[in-house]
Parts: sequence; C-alpha cells; structure tokens
Amino acid sequence: MKKITVVTLPGDGIGKVVLPEALRVLEAAGFQADYVHGDIGWDFWISEGNALPQRTIDLLEKHKLGLFGAITSKPKPQAMAELSPALQGKGYVYYSPIVGLRQHFDLDLCIRPCQSFPNNPLNFIRRESDGISEPKVDVVIFRQNTEGLYSGVEWTDPPAGVRQALETHPKMAFFKKVPGKDLAISCRIFSRGACQRIIEAAFAYAKDYGYKSVTICEKPNVIRETSGMMEEEAKKIAADYPDIALWSTNIDAQMMWLTKNPEDYGVIVAGNMFGDIVSDGFAGLVGGLGFACSANIGRDCAIFEPTHGSAPKYERLDPPIVNPIAMILSACMMLDHVGERSKSARIRAAIEKVIAEGTVRTYDMMKLTGGAKVIGQGAASSIEMTDAIIAKL
Ligand code: NAI
Ligand code: MG
Repeated sequence: MKKITVVTLPGDGIGKVVLPEALRVLEAAGFQADYVHGDIGWDFWISEGNALPQRTIDLLEKHKLGLFGAITSKPKPQAMAELSPALQGKGYVYYSPIVGLRQHFDLDLCIRPCQSFPNNPLNFIRRESDGISEPKVDVVIFRQNTEGLYSGVEWTDPPAGVRQALETHPKMAFFKKVPGKDLAISCRIFSRGACQRIIEAAFAYAKDYGYKSVTICEKPNVIRETSGMMEEEAKKIAADYPDIALWSTNIDAQMMWLTKNPEDYGVIVAGNMFGDIVSDGFAGLVGGLGFACSANIGRDCAIFEPTHGSAPKYERLDPPIVNPIAMILSACMMLDHVGERSKSARIRAAIEKVIAEGTVRTYDMMKLTGGAKVIGQGAASSIEMTDAIIAKL
C-alpha cells in the first residue's frame, strides 16, 4: 500500500502544543505515514498578509489529508495594527484560514462525535429519585459546513436590486418602512445537493457504526423552505435504510432534550448554524473543549481538527497544561477516514483506560482555573496526559 502523507497544520497558540502530542500517539499506535508541515495562521498574516499561504493550499491539493491544530483570529482593527509595517495600506484583508480551507476544498461535511468516557468528572450527570445517574452519551453530529446562515451572503443597507427582489415576497411588507442603513440581512441558503450529501453521509455512518437512529435537527415548522428541504430529502434517503429510524427535532427543543435524555440520540444532522449550536451543546455533556474533536470532509480532501481555538493565554506555559485529548481524538477520526480503524480503536481504548483510572487528569478535568499553578495542584501536563495514553496502548 502507498504510504500516506499527512499535511500537519499546527497553526497558532495551543495548536502548536496539542498537534505534536497527537503525532506521538499516532506513531506509538504504529501508524506509518509521512508528514509535511503546512504554514497557516497569525504569523503568516503578520509577515505575508495571508494566514493561508498558497503553498499550504498546494500541499493539501497534493496530499488531500490535513491534521490541523488551531488558529488565532482577531478583530479587524487589531489585525490591521499587527500587520507588518511593510504591508500596511496595501489592501490586505484578514480572512480566517480555517473558513478559507472549508470553502476552497468544499469541505461540506463536518462530523463532530460527542462520546462520554466513563469516570470523566466533566460528564453530564442527572438527578434521579434514588440518587444520581450518568447516562452514556454517544452522539455523532453531522453539520453541513459550507452553506446556510454562514454562507456569507449578507448586507447591511442592501443594494436596491436586492431590496426590490425581496419586496416581491409578501412578508417583506413588514420591513417596508425600515431605512436601508437600518436593515441587516443574512441569507440562509440551502442547496438540495448539499442537503442530500450530509444526510446520505449521516445514514451511511449510522449503518456502518451501528447507530439506530438519525435525527434531523432543524425547524421546518417556522423556517419552512430551508429546513423543509432538509426534511424532505431525509425522508427520501431514509427509505434506503429501513433498519435506521428517522427522527425529527426542532433545534430549540433539542437543546432542552439534550440536557434531559442525551442517551436517546445517535446520529444527528443539521444545517450549518444549528449544527454548530447542537454540537457545542452535546460537547458540553462529554467534557467540553478538551474532548471535542471534528472532521471536515469534502469530495477529495479532508481536514481533522479539535473544535477548540488557540487559547493564547496558555500558549507559552512550560510545561503546557491544555488537554491534548480533543486533538488526539481528531487524529483518530483521521485514522478512521484512511481505513486504519483498528489503530483508532486502540487509541480510544487507551484514552478510556486513562480516564477510567482517574490518576492522570489535565486541569480542565479537575475543574481548576487554568494557569501555571495547576501543575502544583496535581494536574497532569499535556505531555504527561499523552504519555499516560501511550503507556496504555
Ligand atoms: P479557545 O477554544 O481558544 O479557548 C477558550 C477556553 O477554553 C480556553 O481559555 C481554555 O480555558 C479552554 N480550552 C480550550 N482548549 C482547551 C484544551 N485543549 N484543554 C483545556 N482547556 C481548553 O476559544 P477563545 O478563547 O474564544 O479563542 C481564542 C482564539 O482562538 C481566538 O483568536 C479565536 O478566534 C480562535 N479560535 C479558533 C478556532 C479554530 O482554530 N478552529 C475555533 C475557536 C476559536
Ligand atoms: Mg462553534
């Protein structure tokens, strides 16, 4: 078999801490790959006026597989102030490189598993009439990653042509008297093909991994056209999967139910924004940012990343304190993607053992306020956590 090449994209802040830890685990699990480094993030905005240099896109075009840490984004005035003086005033504009990657490679499928590990002190618990229960949460969210409310088609003071077009809709009469400068519009755009792709991927995954249900989490009673299209396509695709139940929930009710009966759900599908919301909601039940992993998958390129950001305040701590598990679980998703499922299963089992034993815990698992002092308070460093996982492999 041809050796796989992975483009490693540590990015900024703690991305540079957790990515090397994940590579150590991959190596210990016997994953044979070549790694090439890709430049991405704030340093390249400052020095080149581009946080996602073309050479990095070229590497991903070639190898089609990326392992990404995290990047730092800052508001416009700050971005401009930090840009190298030689580049100031030359029309450079900051764009988020991860959004850029999703768009460039049409990474339309975002997969976010939220699975609880027994004995994680951060797990969701529930008060029962006879004590406390800790339901096993095992949910995988499929979020449409490129369309919907995050498509970027939006205006404040929309051009006259846009306004005229909108006024052909009877409901626009409600906004008739609002002056343009006081009118902000963000479009929620769904295309049928993208709906079909995310739903099909979700059902195929449910079948492959033995989940009993796929839940479409939208709001078709109110957002009739876009949510309605998602529901309509789901019904068609579900017919090909007679053994998997198709459920439908509204996003608002889903956010309530996930705090009441999270164990009832399996695979969940949602558009971009609702997927963003519901995946953060479920991630909170299984340990939060230190555990939340994700995959961005397109037709021919895939990039795996923890959902946390660069947490700049922890970047320079020595030893580093952040939890590497979200990054390591993201690397496991990459292994699944390339067909190395026995290796990812071994790594997940090793993580499970470390958490079950409970002697090695990073500061977030101990519910401490982050900072250098947590090591003295008994928290494991990022490196110690990785070492413990490797020892269990
Ligand atoms: P963040 O996710 O970087 O950090 C928020 C807080 O979560 C941290 O202060 C820390 O307490 C905790 N945390 C995050 N990762 C952790 C880990 N692995 N282990 C333990 N605790 C962890 O979000 P924040 O502070 O809102 O943003 C910081 C920077 O990251 C910003 O510039 C933001 O734009 C960027 N960002 C990048 C993302 C990406 O690369 N995909 C996603 C989210 C934010
Ligand atoms: Mg989010």
